[in-house]
Order: sequence, then structure tokens, then C-alpha cells
Amino acid sequence: MTPPSDTIWASLPVPAFIVDEADGIADVNPPGEQFLNASARAIRGQPVFDKLAIDAPIEEAFARVRTDLSPLFVNTVEVSGGNAPPVTCNIQIAPVIGQPGHVLLLMEPRQIANRLGRAHSASSAAKSAIGMAEMLSHEIKNPLAGITGAAQLLSMNLNAPDQELTDLIVEESRRIVALLEQVEQFGNLAPPERRAVNVHDLLDRAVKSATVGFAAHMKIVEDFDPSLPPTFVDANQMLQVFLNLLKNAAEAAGKNGGTITLRTFYDMSLRLRRRDGSGGALPLQIEIIDDGPGLPPEIISEAFEPFVSGRENGTGLGLALVSKIISDHGGWIAVESSPGRTMFRISLPMAPKE
Ligand SMILES: Nc1ncnc2c1ncn2[C@@H]1O[C@H](COP(=O)(O)OP(=O)(O)OP(=O)(O)O)[C@@H](O)[C@H]1O
Ligand SMILES: [Mg+2]
Repeated sequence: MTPPSDTIWASLPVPAFIVDEADGIADVNPPGEQFLNASARAIRGQPVFDKLAIDAPIEEAFARVRTDLSPLFVNTVEVSGGNAPPVTCNIQIAPVIGQPGHVLLLMEPRQIANRLGRAHSASSAAKSAIGMAEMLSHEIKNPLAGITGAAQLLSMNLNAPDQELTDLIVEESRRIVALLEQVEQFGNLAPPERRAVNVHDLLDRAVKSATVGFAAHMKIVEDFDPSLPPTFVDANQMLQVFLNLLKNAAEAAGKNGGTITLRTFYDMSLRLRRRDGSGGALPLQIEIIDDGPGLPPEIISEAFEPFVSGRENGTGLGLALVSKIISDHGGWIAVESSPGRTMFRISLPMAPKE
């Protein structure tokens, strides 16, 4: 015997909402009421975005579901309702059969993150780890300078084979200092000084410096939308973002090289909804695509966290810095990766009109 559909609705173990064609909540199930800490009566008819703060371009997702009439999954987004702290969820959105424009929104809180397409802000645990690392960095640099100096003095009276050992001390110490400096750079990041900037100028600058340096073995293809309006960013910080992404792609490709495609386009439907009500449209899209081996699957869900690296000598700070800069700009970054195609997509706001 099939149970009646309202029994199924009430039995769904995760928060579920029916959203009408005008983004109002048409119905909510009991876990949904619990999630919002309000009764169905108080929730029905309310605009969904007033009730739920979702840190993802969810309006775009609704629009896609309504036009394509096929379900869509958004993994690992922060959702908050009522006054509760945000919960990391996987979201499923599906068209409601027989009710044009209506969509079903299911939220599945998740404990373990291990999916693609994940987006980020440095978590607070990561931030305190960075604070700690900065403090340590100061404490380590002084004795390290002493060690290096002593090794250099020693080396003056040594024969060649022994000098190799003191050289090793000096060289390894330099590597540690370089690492510490990277950590410090992370902590020192000033709030962005934002100006209206042409994204293509920044990309060109990044490509120029990449092709004379770390990306000399790569072919770089530009697929720009010339009509792209200016964005509103700190040019130096954003340059750093592009350089880090180009560098990762170049390093992943290995000696034989590969192709990096830089694509820009305009997509007005992408907007973020933040808990504090901030965050508007992010219409400027920049994709950095490479045809390399892709991110190692075991690190993909944490690739934006500091000290996560899939490379032998990697410090794992590149993407953490990228993620921090983008989130300081109110932007959005996502990654999709499989062998042969890795895409980082950055979504940025438009510069305000004069
Ligand atoms: N385009 C890419 N293709 C394949 N793997 C990538 C790509 N971008 C990043 N990765 C993987 O993600 C890891 C993390 O990148 P991230 O830039 O944060 O650190 P890193 O490059 O290892 O070190 P650092 O940038 O601090 O020198 C890399 O080690 C690499 O395994
Ligand atoms: Mg890197």
C-alpha cells in the first residue's frame, strides 16, 4: 500500500520546502519548521530568501531548475535559518511535477565534506591556525638566522665535503624562511583597497609575468568577452589570485606543458545571499581552465584550506590565499576537476556606477 503523499512529506527526515514561482515558500515539512524554528503557518507565503540565508548562488540554481525542468545538486553550502548558526548542507532542488515554476528544495546537513564544486571561506579553525603559525614564524626566524650565520662561519674552516653539509644547513634554513614568509603574507593581508578595474588588464598582467617565469612551458589561450564591465577589486590582491591559479595549473601540467584557457563572461543571474543580508550580484565570471591531471581526489574537498597540498614541495597556501582574497571581496570561487579538465571559476561584483 502506498502511503498518502502528505505522510511522505511529513516523514522526510530532512528540511524540505516547496518554493513557488515567485520564490515564496508554499509549503514546509516538520524538519523544515524545526530548522527555521517557526511554525508552518508563520512560514508559508514568506519569501524563501528572507527565511533562509544560503551562502551560494541559489537563485541561479532555481532559475536553472525552472527552465531545464531537471534536478540540481549543490554541495557544501552554508545555510542558516532562524537565529541558528549556519549549517553546512548539501542542497537538492527539483522541479515540482504538474506545478510550473514550483521547485522542491531539500537540505541535507552534512558532516563529511568530500565532494566537488565546493566553495569557500577560510574556516575559523584555519584562521586560528594561521594566527598561531604567524606567532611561531616570528619565534623561529631569529634562531634560524643564528643557525645560518653559525653554519656560514663554520664553513670557512672546513674542507669541501664538510662544506657541503654546512651549505645544506644554509639552504634548508632559507627554505624554512621562505615558507614562514608565505605564512606571514597570509596573515598580513590588508583589507582590499577596491577600485574599478578591468579584469582583462589584470589577466594580461598575470599572463605576462607567468609566461616569462613559471608558465614558460604552457600555452595560454584567452577567450575574453570584450564587453565585460569593470569589476571592483584590489588590483594587487586579484593579480595574486590569478598568479596563484596559473602557477598551480603550470605546476600540475609538469615539464611537458599543457594549455591554460582563460575565459571571461557575464552572467547576471549569479548572486550570493549572505546571512547578514549583504552580497549582491556577482555577474563577472572568470574561468581558469587547464587540461592537466586534475586535483588529487583525496584533497579536493580541502584544497582551499591552508597547508593542504598534493605536491611534494607544496606548502598548500596558494589556494588558501586565493580563497581568502576572493571572500574578502565578497566574491565566490568554485572548482571542478577531473583528469584532463580542471576549472576554477571566480565570480566577482561589478564596479558601482559613477
Ligand atoms: N590546476 C590544478 N591542477 C591540479 N592540481 C591542482 C591544481 N590547482 C591546485 N591543485 C592541487 O591543489 C593543491 C593545493 O594547491 P595550493 O596552491 O593551495 O598549494 P600548493 O600549490 O601545493 O603550494 P603553494 O601554492 O603554497 O606553493 C596542490 O598541491 C595541487 O595538488
Ligand atoms: Mg600553489
